[in-house]
Amino acid sequence: MARILTGIQSTGRPHLGNILGAINPAIALANKAENDSFLFIADLHSLTQIKNAEELKNNTFQVAATWLACGLDPNKTTFYRQSDVTECTELAWYLNCFFPYQRLKLAHSFKDKSDRLEDVNSGLFAYPMLMASDILLYDADFVPVGKDQLQHLEMTRDVASRINHKHGEIFVLPEPILQQDAQLILGTDGEKMSKSRNNTIDVFDAENAIKKLINKNIVTDNTPLEEPKDPDSATVYQLYKLLATNEESKTMAEKLKAGGYGWGHAKKELLDKIVSSFSEERAKFEHYQNNPKEVEEVLMEGAQKAKKVAKATLERVRNSLGYN
Ligand code: TRP
Repeated sequence: MARILTGIQSTGRPHLGNILGAINPAIALANKAENDSFLFIADLHSLTQIKNAEELKNNTFQVAATWLACGLDPNKTTFYRQSDVTECTELAWYLNCFFPYQRLKLAHSFKDKSDRLEDVNSGLFAYPMLMASDILLYDADFVPVGKDQLQHLEMTRDVASRINHKHGEIFVLPEPILQQDAQLILGTDGEKMSKSRNNTIDVFDAENAIKKLINKNIVTDNTPLEEPKDPDSATVYQLYKLLATNEESKTMAEKLKAGGYGWGHAKKELLDKIVSSFSEERAKFEHYQNNPKEVEEVLMEGAQKAKKVAKATLERVRNSLGYN
């Protein structure tokens, strides 16, 4: 049985694009019986950018509640919070001491982030070694990641080999599983949906709030109601198509092309589609908002399971380095 492990950034409540592009495919992979899967919320990595305790906590909670609402089964997947397994920071230190500073300086993601962000701290610089620790601590065989994380995986293999070379076979060398670029999901402005573009749709919001957002933010041209319209160039239709059956999409396309059917009608159908396709997820999400303790319990149980594995690995490492 192969062990699959991946970390989730906790930058706030996931949106429609995150759910369709990343969360649902990851849950499908995790639920495959032949895989032993570890999934965690990378809240220690978040500290590189978020210094407000409430915000940090709330982000983690929203992310955990979303994954659970979307069907992650904590009986099949070890689901935990990175910060609950403090072994991770200990291992990260050891890894730091085996990895050349000059190599870390070549990290693309650090270059990107240090150009973009205000708070360029040492944690941001050492980020790849914390990530390597996340992976090596659990003897992961496979790590599903996007293209932007491949270099971090290379560094993980590199630092693991350096230590194995000096101290014997302590670590499993993980293989990346390259994930397709998150499916291109259009945002309300017709560009790729992303938080930084402010064009997201929050499927867990109150129906009224989603309605307002759709009416106000989804761009349409000003073809009059009675005129024929082009579905393929319309964001509202593209979004509808993501959630509707082929039959339903065809029907909307025909109505648009025929004329006499306005953007307002299409927007109303989109709203209904969002609410109905996510009705189960919305109900579960609301349940967790009202019962945050349940989420906490799931994460604590996950941490217990994760800790067992982590402790065993750390024991091997400490023995080899001369700390036991
Ligand atoms: N750095 C990853 C990202 O930005 C998140 C992450 C942290 C991760 N630790 C990990 C992913 C370990 C895979 C394995 O998306």
